[in-house]
Amino acid sequence: MKVFILALFILLFVSFVGCVKSKEELMFKAFQKKFNKVYSPNEKIYRFSVFKDNLNKIHQHNQNPNNKFQLGINQFTDLTNKEYQELYLMNELPKRKQIGKEYEYDPNLPTDDCVDWKDKGVVPNVIDQGQCGSCWAISAMEVIESCLAIDNGSLVKLSIQEIIDCDDGSYGCNGGWPKQALKWEQEQGGSCSAEDYPYTGMTERCKSNSCKPIKFSIECFQVLTGNETEMAQICAQYGPLSAAIDASHFSFQTYVSGIYYEKDCSSTNLDHAVLVVGYCNSGDDKYWIVQNSWGSSWGMQGYIWMSRDKNNNCGIATDAWYCKDCHFDSN
Ligand SMILES: *[C@@H]1O[C@H](CO)[C@@H](O)[C@H](O)[C@H]1NC(C)=O
Ligand SMILES: *[C@@H]1O[C@H](CO)[C@@H](O)[C@H](O)[C@H]1NC(C)=O
Repeated sequence: MKVFILALFILLFVSFVGCVKSKEELMFKAFQKKFNKVYSPNEKIYRFSVFKDNLNKIHQHNQNPNNKFQLGINQFTDLTNKEYQELYLMNELPKRKQIGKEYEYDPNLPTDDCVDWKDKGVVPNVIDQGQCGSCWAISAMEVIESCLAIDNGSLVKLSIQEIIDCDDGSYGCNGGWPKQALKWEQEQGGSCSAEDYPYTGMTERCKSNSCKPIKFSIECFQVLTGNETEMAQICAQYGPLSAAIDASHFSFQTYVSGIYYEKDCSSTNLDHAVLVVGYCNSGDDKYWIVQNSWGSSWGMQGYIWMSRDKNNNCGIATDAWYCKDCHFDSN
């Protein structure tokens, strides 16, 4: 009898302890649910340890009053920084050869205090690139779509997948350069619509011939490397730009809000491409309004404010491209 009662107590005790979940466990459970994360039992143990480790780092960052931006839980919180870099950023690509005229200076551009093309209805919605290294194609195509929308008034969605599959100067889901994609589109003078040639997030056989192209003319140029003053003028005048940046840091991986500044950022080792849709300031702190391509659950509804005039932090103006004189051509 005594043994039985003891056994019962042990059983109750064990099941009680098993039920009480730590705060981290509850957060991990909510995280899994929110981002549809399904793991094998072994993987779950590993992912939970990474998650806890990241939570600590996030907490430490947010407690430091000198930081003007906040970190938090997003779809990458179960990845180490190395895993995140490998899965979501571009590897070092072979340097692309020069194509034609890349820089055009216009001294008469006006400046504004703040510009946000999003408010003008010419910026495409945030895309989730998935595990395809297509940021370069996305940001390039969005520059073209915006430039055409500024001219025409209507935002026409063009095919990003066509660039991934057909631009043989790039490497599909393994990466590429926005400038290469822009030059390719400029030479093509047209594109399938996004509806006719939808995004699959995989490199596939080129199917350009299967659609009736939407014809357009564009002229694309680079911002004078590193010149954020000129970049702001160009943005105010011509619309969104594509920028290649260093997105490799833990602070970028887990960014949720505020003005991003990373002291360890490189302005020459660039591993990601984004769309700069405007700029503004908060007191003395100036920022670029940047659309990312990791879905709307990342950052501020898919956006990040990146430091402006802080010595080209993360290379925002190192390899920035824009288009002008965009218009649809009749078939
Ligand atoms: C450009 O705008 C006009 C209306 O102003 C519209 O009829 C036309 O379809 C647009 N062009 C394209 C290619 O969408
Ligand atoms: C940057 O661009 C501005 C505006 O175009 C120009 O006035 C300035 O001289 C440029 N700065 C450098 C370092 O080239």
